[in-house]
Amino acid sequence: MTTTSATASATASDTASGTACDSPAADDTRRGLAELIEQIRRCTAAESDPAATARLVAGVLIALRPTAYLLTATEREGSADGYVRHTLHTEPTFSISAVVWRPGQITEIHDHLVWCSFLVLQGVETENIFGFDGVGVGDDRRLVQVGRRRRPAGSVSGVAPPDDIHQVHNTGDETAITLHVYGADLSQGTSVRRIYRTEGMPCEGS
Ligand SMILES: [Fe+2]
Repeated sequence: MTTTSATASATASDTASGTACDSPAADDTRRGLAELIEQIRRCTAAESDPAATARLVAGVLIALRPTAYLLTATEREGSADGYVRHTLHTEPTFSISAVVWRPGQITEIHDHLVWCSFLVLQGVETENIFGFDGVGVGDDRRLVQVGRRRRPAGSVSGVAPPDDIHQVHNTGDETAITLHVYGADLSQGTSVRRIYRTEGMPCEGS
């Protein structure tokens, strides 16, 4: 696993809770997205190594500190039916999406097939880390939880395959919002992650 992690000096929730930011102008939707795209594009043009690119993009997320106002008020509400992903931008070398998680919402167990850098914009993300227990081979391998990371708003990470097998869970009591940059063009239906059955072996991309 190649990982770089940091916590931005001012969190997205700091900004989101400010009175001055409570009513962004209607034409200010996707606030900061254009600058974010431009800076990420420079990273992908300058670097081809996945781990190095993920680190560079994580640095951009720390420097620019985008906020939850990349999303509209309606998008920020999330859904009772499960976490919701909003694709904000796609191009051949990378895509940007935001995920809205109401309390208790959780992903399937998965790992990633491309580099990914992400920022917790609001709330708290808890990451359950999995590994194989050493019993069995092939399809009989079993996954067990081997760790847990808690990431508050402002946390930034950049990872590249082979990444941790993990599961992301909003264990907080407020809606969480995370911003993800993937090294793939999501508009082409590219699989950026691999989902694991309880028994452990990958079963599908998504
Ligand atoms: Fe993931």
